Amino acid sequence: MKELRSPSTLFLPKPVVLVSTAHGGRDNVMTAAWVSVVCMEPPQVAVAVRETRYTYELIQAGGEFVVNIPSRDLWRAVDLCGVVSGRDRDKFDLAGLTRERASEVDAPLVAECPLNIECRVCASLPLGSHTLFVGLVLAVHLEGKCLGEKGKILTEEFHPYVLNQREYWSMGMRLGGYGDAAAELEVIP
Ligand SMILES: Cc1cc2nc3c(=O)[nH]c(=O)nc-3n(C[C@H](O)[C@H](O)[C@H](O)COP(=O)(O)O)c2cc1C
Repeated sequence: MKELRSPSTLFLPKPVVLVSTAHGGRDNVMTAAWVSVVCMEPPQVAVAVRETRYTYELIQAGGEFVVNIPSRDLWRAVDLCGVVSGRDRDKFDLAGLTRERASEVDAPLVAECPLNIECRVCASLPLGSHTLFVGLVLAVHLEGKCLGEKGKILTEEFHPYVLNQREYWSMGMRLGGYGDAAAELEVIP
């Protein structure tokens, strides 16, 4: 028996990333879970940012951001960047994160994150409390030890994790492969 709930953003799990930004000689890093891939060609990702965030100000002004995907061992640093504002503190210092020069944008990469996606804002959609910034991917950096054969990311080296309600969870067991179920039933000719 399911309970009928009022409309909300109840949704799980969500990815957890660090969004880094820069403008006018200042930079910042913010935790975001409202983030997704939104287009393949050209490659685009999107992040929903509340208008009160310093990150919102920097993205609006600079027109760019970097999505940095952390490994599970960084969860405490990432959590910190999600409760403190860059208006008040240098969160790179606070969380022990290192700035690394990006190749296409002024916003820094977070060196400790094995995957960094440089983006230029190509669309923004004010939705209410949050604005959805769509970023055209300009460059991708992947830590060498996480790279397997045929460009596959090695999960056991990367150790991605997710936000499951208000808790951080690492990945559990592998269930199967994309298309395995269809292949077993031979539904695809
Ligand atoms: C796990 C987690 C996920 C979050 N996801 C988002 C998000 O997707 N969008 C957003 O605007 N704020 C999000 N926040 C809140 C911001 O990270 C937080 O308000 C931060 O202090 C804003 O930093 P800034 O003012 O330096 O930009 C999240 C916080 C946490 C802990």
